[in-house]
Amino acid sequence: MTEIPAALGAEVRRDLTDAPFLAAARGATPSRTPVWFMRQAGRSLPEYREIRAGTNMLESCFDPALVCEVTAQPVRRHDVDAAILFSDIVVPLKAAGVGLDIVPGVGPVVDEPVRSAAQVDALPALDADQVAPVSEAIGLLLTELGTTPLIGFAGAPFTLASYLVEGGPSRNHERTKAMMFGAPEIWHRLMDRLTIDTITSLRAQLAAGVDAVQLFDSWAGTLTLADYREFVRPYTERVFAAVADAGVPRIHFGVGTGELLADMASVGTEVIGVDWRIPLDDAARRVGPGMVLQGNLDPATLFADAQTVADRADLVLAAADRARELGATGHIFNLGHGVLPDTDADAITRLVAHVHDR
Ligand code: CP3
Repeated sequence: MTEIPAALGAEVRRDLTDAPFLAAARGATPSRTPVWFMRQAGRSLPEYREIRAGTNMLESCFDPALVCEVTAQPVRRHDVDAAILFSDIVVPLKAAGVGLDIVPGVGPVVDEPVRSAAQVDALPALDADQVAPVSEAIGLLLTELGTTPLIGFAGAPFTLASYLVEGGPSRNHERTKAMMFGAPEIWHRLMDRLTIDTITSLRAQLAAGVDAVQLFDSWAGTLTLADYREFVRPYTERVFAAVADAGVPRIHFGVGTGELLADMASVGTEVIGVDWRIPLDDAARRVGPGMVLQGNLDPATLFADAQTVADRADLVLAAADRARELGATGHIFNLGHGVLPDTDADAITRLVAHVHDR
C-alpha cells in the first residue's frame, strides 16, 4: 500500500485551519456555509471549453498542468469553498491498461465488456506509479489553490463495475445485475479487483496531499437494500477503512439512494451526499444523528430565473437547519448531482454568493 505521509502534502505546508469546507466536514462551526459543486469543472465554464478544445478527455486527465488549471478554474470564477480534482472515475482503469475511452455526450465506453471469469482474472491491477501524473497534478494544486481545500475522489467498486460489465452507460444495468444475481462468484471476484484498485488510487491521491476524498457510487440507487448489503456494501466498507488512517473527511455519494441512505452513511464516512429527491431533514432522520450532510439543490434549478434559484436554495438551507435540530452535525451546500453541461456559469456564481450571504 502507498504510504501516506504523517503530514499530508508534506512538502507544501498550507494553513487550512479556517477553511469552511473542512470545518463543516469535521462537524465544527464554519465561518460561512461552505459550498462547492460536483462537476464544477467542466462544460459550464467557457474557459474550460476553450482549454479543452481539440483535446481528448482521458488524455487531459494525465496532463498535470492541464489538470491543475482546469481544477482551479471554478475556484477562481465562483469563489467555491473547495476544489475537486479534474479527473474521472475511469482514470485508474485507463491507467492500469483497460481499453476504454470517454466519448463526448455519452460517457465511458469499454472496448471489451467484462462478463466472464477469465476476463475478470485478466483485468490488470493498478500500480500507484501508473497514476503518477495525477499525483503530480495534486502537487501543483497545493501551491495553486492556497487555502482552498482540494477534494480527491474515486468511483466506488459497484459504479465502476457497472461500466465494465455493461461496456458503457446503462439505463437498466441488466448485464451487471445478471452477473451479480446469476454468477455471484464472478461478481465477487470483480468487486475484489476493483476494491483494491480504488484503494490504490485514493491512497495515491492522499499521499500527494488531497484534503478530503469523495467516493462516487453514482448508480448504487438502482439496487434494492438487500442486494446493496450483499453485493456492494462490504467492498465500499473496505475502501473507506483503507483510507481511514489519512485522517481526512470522507464523503459518500450516490444518486436515487433514499432507500439506501442509512446504509451508505454507516460504511465509514463522515459526510453523506444526498441527491435532490429527499429533503435534508428527511435525510437526517434516515441516517440518524452525528452525520454531516452534503447537498442537495436540484441541478435543473439553475435553469430558472435568479430569484427562483435563490428561493430554492433557501429551502435547502432551511431543511439543513431542521436537519441540525435532528442531530446532523453540519451542512455542505452542493447540488443533488453534477452541474449540467448547459448551465449558465453566472447563475452558478450568483448561487455561491447567495449561500455565502445568508
Ligand atoms: O468537477 C468535477 O466534478 C471533477 C471532475 C469529474 C469528472 N467526472 C469530469 C468529467 C468527476 C468528479 C467525475 C466523476 C464521474 N465520471 C462520475 C461520478 C459522478 C456522477 O456524475 O455521478 C461518473 C458516473 C463519471 C463517468 C462519466 N464521465 C460520465 C457519465 C461523463 C459524461 C459524458 C458526457 O460527455 O456527458 C464523463 C465525462 C466527463 N467527466 C466530463 C467531465 C468534465 C465531460 C467531458 C468533456 O468535457 O467532454
